[in-house]
Amino acid sequence: GDGGRDSQEYLFKIVIVGDSAVGKSNLLSRYARGEFDLHSKATVGVDFQTQCLEIDGKEVKAQIWDTAGQERFRAVTSAYYRGAFGALIVYDISRRSTFDSVSRWLDELNSHSDTTVAKMLVGNKRDLEEIRDVSVEEGKNLAEAEGLFFIETSAFDSTNVHKAFEIVIREIY
Ligand code: GTP
Ligand code: MG
Repeated sequence: GDGGRDSQEYLFKIVIVGDSAVGKSNLLSRYARGEFDLHSKATVGVDFQTQCLEIDGKEVKAQIWDTAGQERFRAVTSAYYRGAFGALIVYDISRRSTFDSVSRWLDELNSHSDTTVAKMLVGNKRDLEEIRDVSVEEGKNLAEAEGLFFIETSAFDSTNVHKAFEIVIREIY
């Protein structure tokens, strides 16, 4: 068949949202390139990575978009969400304020996208257990109340990073 068309067939856009410094860019770089940066700079505008994976013997491409958590660095909101099939809503388990922001990110996501978007609530920085500020239970409860998948990750030590993206990609697929 038409190779170009086939490769287009399973291209899924996924967006990552959440407050500044929760680790969105490091989750993406860990997933797509196996890289982590302890001193990463705040994202300005939008960045994206395309990741290929195989599901049930079919090649699937996920185009994963990452934007700034800080309002002043954000790109046009509607364009960011347009065509998204999946979303990761990220907070930092060591900073409660980032968890409190989740409902605001969800509102924005819901008002700019289809209701069919597969959503994963991600509690990142699970390696910072000693300074945990949000319990696993609280994360689970919020996810359940909002109808989201839930996972805790660490971009630092790689825990559950592939799983977080792949659960969303599989759900879309
Ligand atoms: P914005 O681009 O401003 O929205 O921030 P962001 O959400 O992309 O955060 P970023 O990935 O730049 O990470 C912010 C800081 O948290 C950096 O110093 C990272 O090294 C650190 N960080 C990210 N993920 C983890 C993690 O899982 N564990 C720990 N300990 N630090 C992390
Ligand atoms: Mg960033």
